[in-house]
Amino acid sequence: MNIVKVKDYKALSEEAFSLFKSVISASSAPVIGFATGSSPVGLYELICYDYIKNGASYKDMTTFNLDEYVGLDVSSDQSYIYFMKHNLFDHIDVNPKNINIPNGIAPDIEKECKRYSSLLASSSIDLQILGIGANGHIGFNEPNTPFTSTTHKVKLTDKTIQDNSRFFDDIEQVPKYAITMGITEIMNAKKIIILANGKNKAKAVFDMVKGPVSESCPASILRRHPDAVLIADEDACSLL
Ligand code: GLP
Repeated sequence: MNIVKVKDYKALSEEAFSLFKSVISASSAPVIGFATGSSPVGLYELICYDYIKNGASYKDMTTFNLDEYVGLDVSSDQSYIYFMKHNLFDHIDVNPKNINIPNGIAPDIEKECKRYSSLLASSSIDLQILGIGANGHIGFNEPNTPFTSTTHKVKLTDKTIQDNSRFFDDIEQVPKYAITMGITEIMNAKKIIILANGKNKAKAVFDMVKGPVSESCPASILRRHPDAVLIADEDACSLL
């Protein structure tokens, strides 16, 4: 794993944008895996700026999102489809037909997982953007998820529900289940960028980089990826 240590969140976002842009420029039809959460918001602002101010076009980009809560649809401002539209997709010229995100309100969630998984199997992600949970999760692959997993329904841990409750009015409103891309599918991406900032990520970053490669820290598998880049600020690197 290549580690790029940066001063602060602004530098993290700029570094991520620069890598993102080199992947986008290298292909006439780039396929990008996007993440939600606060970590990539600065990167998404720079992509929007690139479209609005620099006239860059993203019309030939195909997107796959990592995960979605079960039970929230696009009208809920906490759903990940809403997040992506609000922070990125509504502000650039990506073709809505090229946007892929698990459907958290599908009548049959198991069937939806299979649909998403087969879509991923017939695609090839050029760049996957990841954040990392404070417990080392990637996407919603919680500790002890098999490294062999594909898209599946997951019961969120208390730690993740607690962490994500900051986006909700009340912890009771945080969904208990989600659909997530599996670890195998994340590892299939040609390139992976992991974004980590803040002191609350220091332990997870330490476990990912220095701990054993173990299902108890899902992100540790990223050390086995041939082209994974961790971009982390000084606080997130403070235990390394
Ligand atoms: C959520 C998402 C993850 C994200 C993680 C960290 O649980 N499912 O994809 O990486 O939280 O979020 P943040 O970037 O807000 O710290």
